[in-house]
Amino acid sequence: MSVPHPSSTSAETPTPTLRWEGDHTGRLWMIDQTLLPTELKEIELGSVEAVWEAIKALRVRGAPAIGVAAAYGVVIGLQAVADAPREQFDAKLKETVDYLATSRPTAVNLFWALERMSQFAADRPEEASTKLLPKLLEEARRIELEDREMCAAIGRHGAELLADGSGVLTHCNAGGLATAGDGTALSVIFAAAASGKQLQVYADETRPLLQGARLTSWELMQRNVPVTVICDSMAGWVMKEGRVQAVVTGADRIAGNGDAANKIGTYSVALLAKEHGIPFYVAAPSSTFDLSLSSGEEIPIEERDPLEITNGMGRQTAPDGAHVYNPAFDVTPAKYIAAIITERGLIRPVNEQNVREHLAD
Ligand code: MRU
Repeated sequence: MSVPHPSSTSAETPTPTLRWEGDHTGRLWMIDQTLLPTELKEIELGSVEAVWEAIKALRVRGAPAIGVAAAYGVVIGLQAVADAPREQFDAKLKETVDYLATSRPTAVNLFWALERMSQFAADRPEEASTKLLPKLLEEARRIELEDREMCAAIGRHGAELLADGSGVLTHCNAGGLATAGDGTALSVIFAAAASGKQLQVYADETRPLLQGARLTSWELMQRNVPVTVICDSMAGWVMKEGRVQAVVTGADRIAGNGDAANKIGTYSVALLAKEHGIPFYVAAPSSTFDLSLSSGEEIPIEERDPLEITNGMGRQTAPDGAHVYNPAFDVTPAKYIAAIITERGLIRPVNEQNVREHLAD
C-alpha cells in the first residue's frame, strides 16, 4: 500500500524533499525516493560519498533537486578541513566538486550548483576557512531558496497555458520531489488547479524506473489533483481519444537553441503531441539552460545499468544474457516545443534568439 504524505492526513508540515539540519557542522536529510510510493522515509547523509551515492542511485533525483543536494554535499565535503589553512581547504573543495560532478552527467543543474559554490569561494581569497565554510552553507541555502522561488514563478507563468477542463499529460516527475519547491511541470499544474481550473492529469508511468507512476501520481494525489497513471505506450492512444489538450514536462538540460533533454520517452511524447496538434510545453528554471551548447546534439546522455530494465520490477523480466540499451534521457528538438516556461516568463516561439534574449540579464 502506498503511504500518504503527512499533509494529506494532518496539518503537519509535509516532509521536504531535502533539508539541511544544523549549522555548518550539520547534516543533509532527504526523502529516499527509491522507496516511494510504499515508504516515506528520510535518510541522513553525513559524508560526501553518501551524497554521491544518493544522487547516483536516484534517492534524490530531478535536475534542480540534484543541484541543491550537490551544493550541500560540498559543505559536507569541507567539514573535515574547516580549520585547515586556506590552501588545503581549496584543494579539498576542488576534490569534492570534481567527485560530485561524476555522479550523473545529464542534468546541468548539478554542474551549475557546483560551479556556483566554487566561484563563491574563489571570490573570497582572503577569507579564512573557519569563516568561509559557514558562508558556503549560506550560499547552499540560497540555492535552495532560489529554487523554491523559481518553482513558484514557473507555476504563475505557466498556469495560463492550461485551460479549465483540460487533460494534461506529463512524463517522469518534475514535481516537488524533483526540486526544493513545488516542481516545474507540476508547479504549472498545481498553480492552474489552485486558480480553480479543473484538470485531469495523465501521468506516464515512465519506464524503466517509474518516476511517473511512483512519484508524480503520489504527489498529485496528496494535493487532490485528479491523476490517471498510464503505461508509456498508451500516450498516443490517449491523445487520439481526445483526452489530452496539453503536455507539460520538465527538462534536465536545455541547449542554446532550445533543444531540451528530459527523461527517456519525452521525445516520443513530443512527436505524438505534434501529430495530434497538442501543444507540448517544457517548464524549467534558468539554471537548467546550458548556453555553452549550441544544440541538443551536444548534451551528454546518461546510460544506466541494464538491470534497471531486466530486473526493475522486483523480478527478472528478460532472459539471462539479453542485450540491453538503457539511455536515461532523450532530447526533444526545439521545433516540437510550443513554449518553454521559466521563472522569467515564456519563451515562445522556441529558437536560439528568443532563448538568449530571455536569459540575458
Ligand atoms: O532520472 P531522473 O528521475 O533524475 O530524471 C528526472 C527528469 O527527467 C525530470 O523531468 C527533470 O529532471 C526535471 S525535474 C524538475
